[in-house]
Amino acid sequence: MTNNEIAQKGQQYLMNTYARYPITPVKGQGSYLWDADGKQYLDFVGGIAVCLLGHSHPELITALTEQGQELWHVSNLYWIKPQVELAEKLVQASGLSKAFFCNSGAEANEAAIKLARKYFYRQGQTGRHDIIVFKESFHGRTLATITATGQSKYQEGFAPLPAGFKYASFNQLDSVEALLDSQTCAVMVEPVQGEGGIKAAHPSFLEGLRKICDREGILLIFDEVQSGMGRTGSLFAYQQYNIQPDLLTLAKGLGGGFPIGAMVANEKASQGFAPGDHASTFGGNPLACAVANKVLDILGQAGFMQQVVENAGYLKQELEKIVDPRIVELRGKGFMLGIEFNCEVKELIEICRQQGLLLLGAGPRVLRLVPPLTVSKDEIDLATITLQRALEKWN
Ligand SMILES: Cc1ncc(COP(=O)(O)O)c(C=O)c1O
Repeated sequence: MTNNEIAQKGQQYLMNTYARYPITPVKGQGSYLWDADGKQYLDFVGGIAVCLLGHSHPELITALTEQGQELWHVSNLYWIKPQVELAEKLVQASGLSKAFFCNSGAEANEAAIKLARKYFYRQGQTGRHDIIVFKESFHGRTLATITATGQSKYQEGFAPLPAGFKYASFNQLDSVEALLDSQTCAVMVEPVQGEGGIKAAHPSFLEGLRKICDREGILLIFDEVQSGMGRTGSLFAYQQYNIQPDLLTLAKGLGGGFPIGAMVANEKASQGFAPGDHASTFGGNPLACAVANKVLDILGQAGFMQQVVENAGYLKQELEKIVDPRIVELRGKGFMLGIEFNCEVKELIEICRQQGLLLLGAGPRVLRLVPPLTVSKDEIDLATITLQRALEKWN
């Protein structure tokens, strides 16, 4: 079937929830994708910051197929060996204490929201249920997580929304102070806002949030669904800020393309959950955990993160050389970069796609680059040359 034939069938049978590009990728290898008509693309989208190690990584294929020969699913009625191993790795890497596994970023955040509330409920503080979140944030598409998301476009038409969320301004500590009261149980923040336009928190902002949470005895939740797993040049973005959250949420890159999410908490916050409080049938499934274990092993290999930092620095340096009067700012960390323009970037993304380079937006005016961490310097050169040419064609 051709791209067009597949798209036509898709329009007939699939729920109309996505504005899709008119191609169907059918094969991936490293940083490249091929569509149903055989056209090759350099993929700087990576399944929206998911395919950390590129497509069809041989070690991930082996991890998945070996696990596939042994055991697919048993549920959390039992101990699951790859799940226990993955929890140990995440705990050791994060400096936190206990992990809960689910299947997506939204679910990881739901788990964090529930844990924050239950933690205080267990102490008899039943009125402490409000969570301070941030304008322009993004935390997922479930009812609670669209409410936590500080962008009204994701909430419109879905009222009544769950109560208990208050919206502060990102990078503005006084706006957090102004919202604190005896009902506040947590602050939830992306150390680098992704969907909101690739905006990194100032060090003083995250440090200030840590101090506020300590002073008030409330929990600090970092949503690293997008910024985590090496994306920003350290395993977790918060490690560049030298502070610890109480709760950490992960998904996207954790499974390198296999669906898995995680919520990791420190010892204190973990006390909030007891058997029966939270669950997921598929969460921590053997197949997902086998792949995520391998992802973490590869990220932990000697020199891997240094290479990421070096190549991400090279990408930023090459992007800085691009001169276009419509560019407002180049920003981000590691391989989570955004170029803000003074106009919408939709057409530019389409021109790049036609030229064989896949990019995406982060809001209407920000071009987002989230290539695999394994992207080579040659591929970075190809991407920046293609982008430069696309800019010349874009009126
Ligand atoms: C920071 C952040 N949190 C949560 C989510 C939701 O993740 P998922 O789509 O896996 O539910 C996303 C997705 O873009 C995200 O970027």
